[in-house]
Amino acid sequence: MLRYVLNRLEPTKSEERSGAKSKSAAVLKRLGLKDLHLTEHETIIAAEVVHPDDISVRFEDVGGLDPIIVSLRETVIYPLRFPNLFRSASNLISAPKGVLLYGPPGCGKTMLAKALAKESGATFINITASVITDKWFGESNKLVDGLFSLARKMQPSIIFIDEIDTFLRDRARGDHEAMGMLKAEFMTLWDGLTSSDETRVLVLGATNRPEDIDPAIYRRLPKRFGVGLPDASQRQKILELMLRNTPLDPTLDMQELVRETVGMSGSDLRELCRVAALAPVQEFMRTSGGTDEQMAEAVMNDFKLRPLRIEDFPVHEVKDLAA
Ligand SMILES: Nc1ncnc2c1ncn2[C@@H]1O[C@H](COP(=O)(O)OP(=O)(O)OP(=O)(O)O)[C@@H](O)[C@H]1O
Ligand SMILES: [Mg+2]
Repeated sequence: MLRYVLNRLEPTKSEERSGAKSKSAAVLKRLGLKDLHLTEHETIIAAEVVHPDDISVRFEDVGGLDPIIVSLRETVIYPLRFPNLFRSASNLISAPKGVLLYGPPGCGKTMLAKALAKESGATFINITASVITDKWFGESNKLVDGLFSLARKMQPSIIFIDEIDTFLRDRARGDHEAMGMLKAEFMTLWDGLTSSDETRVLVLGATNRPEDIDPAIYRRLPKRFGVGLPDASQRQKILELMLRNTPLDPTLDMQELVRETVGMSGSDLRELCRVAALAPVQEFMRTSGGTDEQMAEAVMNDFKLRPLRIEDFPVHEVKDLAA
């Protein structure tokens, strides 16, 4: 009776739930786990499990972060996937229960996490605050419970929280009482992971404001990787990756481009390359008239765009935009 009244009060809720249900059924089926028995709240969380095939980013697409990738492999992925190998060496070596990627915007944190989702071989649960927080009292805590129990059922697994500072913010900065309870619940369950060697679940956070994370949460993320602005050799690697399929003019001096782009992030560099790659296209359209027929003809004749020159890279404009 009460349930009926509540559903009538908020019809969208039951719709949302059945949406999540069918989505998570599809997710489980694709992962080959359709026989896994899940509770109501686990089902809602299961809709957030990422399938590797839906991700196109690989580790090799991330430029200049090789030391971090090697370290992620050695200290996170392998212990998570092959625990026995590590346990026999020493019971001190096991996968950390918390990993944090931090650093300025646009330098590849989310990208690294995506590559992990694709290549780690672990279940990757991409959690956002909106999934966990529910306006109904007590419901959020059940969702957090569901999150950890699902992660355990589907282990090895990685619980990923992007922009973790907005979700598990410093409590001193004031938030709602319900949020405080949610955090407490989250931390208790997280600590529960540490108590057993058998659980292979890890929380991965990413943030560009590590100082805003609740100190208690921060402490639970002992393994930290700083993803800073790329230095010269990293910029060179990123540029080479981004331009690998673009013809370049022999006069284009990569070192000069690397020098000029000092202070730019990975996402600035991507924007720079995007604008540069457009230049020959625009030039062609301007000189040829750019009507549909002329374009079609150019395609027919296997027209090749001219290779990129250094002037095509509007370094200063992109820098001004980023500043
Ligand atoms: N090291 C890199 N190698 C290749 N591409 C990069 C690199 N860093 C950033 N990029 C490009 O910039 C885009 C944005 O990067 P990403 O989303 O990973 O930044 P972020 O560190 O998560 O930033 P934020 O803190 O704002 O979330 C990526 O999709 C990618 O195209
Ligand atoms: Mg990000």
